[in-house]
Amino acid sequence: MQTLLQETTRRAIAYLEGLDARPVAPTQEAIAQLRMFDEPLPDGPTDAESVLQRLDDLGAPATVATAGARFFGFVIGGTLPAALAANWLATAWDQNSALYNVTPGTAVLEQVALGWLRDLFGLPAGCAGSFVTGATVANFCGLAGARHAVLAKVGWNVEANGLFGAPPITVVVGAEAHPSLIKSLGLLGMGRDRVVKVPVDDQGRFRPERLPPLSGPTIVCLQAGNVNTGAFDSFAEICARAHQAGAWVHVDGAFGLWATACPERAHLTRGIADADSWVTDAHKWLNVPFDSGLAFVRDADALRAAMAVTASYLPTETERRNPSDYTPELSRRARGVDVWAALRSLGRSGVSDLIERTCRHARRFATGLEAAGYAILNDVVLNQVLVSFGDAPTTRRVIERIQQEGTTWCGGTVWQGHTAMRISVSSWATSDSDVDRSLDAMLRAAAS
Ligand SMILES: Cc1ncc(COP(=O)(O)O)c(C=O)c1O
Repeated sequence: MQTLLQETTRRAIAYLEGLDARPVAPTQEAIAQLRMFDEPLPDGPTDAESVLQRLDDLGAPATVATAGARFFGFVIGGTLPAALAANWLATAWDQNSALYNVTPGTAVLEQVALGWLRDLFGLPAGCAGSFVTGATVANFCGLAGARHAVLAKVGWNVEANGLFGAPPITVVVGAEAHPSLIKSLGLLGMGRDRVVKVPVDDQGRFRPERLPPLSGPTIVCLQAGNVNTGAFDSFAEICARAHQAGAWVHVDGAFGLWATACPERAHLTRGIADADSWVTDAHKWLNVPFDSGLAFVRDADALRAAMAVTASYLPTETERRNPSDYTPELSRRARGVDVWAALRSLGRSGVSDLIERTCRHARRFATGLEAAGYAILNDVVLNQVLVSFGDAPTTRRVIERIQQEGTTWCGGTVWQGHTAMRISVSSWATSDSDVDRSLDAMLRAAAS
């Protein structure tokens, strides 16, 4: 075991140290080599060191350098050193972190991290939290709590009776809701297509004056951080109107919720704590390893009612928090450990600095591109920049050249009918000089 893990460390360090010099996208040769994995299941055992060598030799070159400093394709932060190391250690512990009585160490770490997160985000002290795979499943958790509560209010027990014959629930979303939120609604039996879509403005913000009159069991879904523009909905105003009608307000803040932890950006989130459930990803802006999403629900009983199970063989009785009382999974890895380590290493000022620094990088990209004559299509309020290099085919060609050249990697999008390149900055590792190197590569690609 010792030699194997030391060798693993050596290989991981070599990988991380090599990221700066390699192209961000894998080469065609590296991708072609992947066919070597396509072999019949071996008849007998292979020693672990040979397995590792094969994995590293064939797998590592075919990775995209998302752990490096110049990947801006999606909101995919790198991994903070403390979070990476904690993740390795917790993997060695191999705790099935479902129940406090079985895995007290990781259950307590998760509870501590939850308290820190509530504090950072300014959420109510009593709200419950789920540590899950990502914002899609976190949305599922928050909306499951919402579904429970709005139906319980009219005397319907949805966990016991399902939705067959249940009073209908009105679900209101902004027209720019992330597709994964819509998917979560579908998974919960609330339908992908039966939602009421409220029109949005030129930044993708829910237009509050278009909120329809609400009555009966209702869930209103808002967004903190549009995936293209980074824009935020008007939480204070919409929450007040929704609550007057007895509706539940859910906020998808897959990356935008982190703005609450940064004094320079917190104004964007005004009134967000008035909502009833909130979602974010730790694998995005907190820079912990994949996968790691978080849901928070003001009414802890509603979330527990939707998620908890008991069985005679399970030691569920405890005064402490059972992690799996708040998640769809029973067996689960101790995701809270990575989150705890990231927060413990950064502290309050470190989180704020990470958010502000990456937002400043986004502004630097926008300024440089604009100065070169290219159109920025969004208000750059957060970490997102949408740039057009001309008409749609030209913009697509520039994106392709940038990806092939390898200094950096960005993807394309279509924003309200305009084809654009999307720049998302979220890695702790990105420096001013990485931004400048990437900007140079973009301008070279656009000029060629
Ligand atoms: C606003 C928003 N919601 C939800 C998601 C889905 O997150 P995940 O991929 O972690 O499930 C994303 C991902 O980019 C997002 O930007």
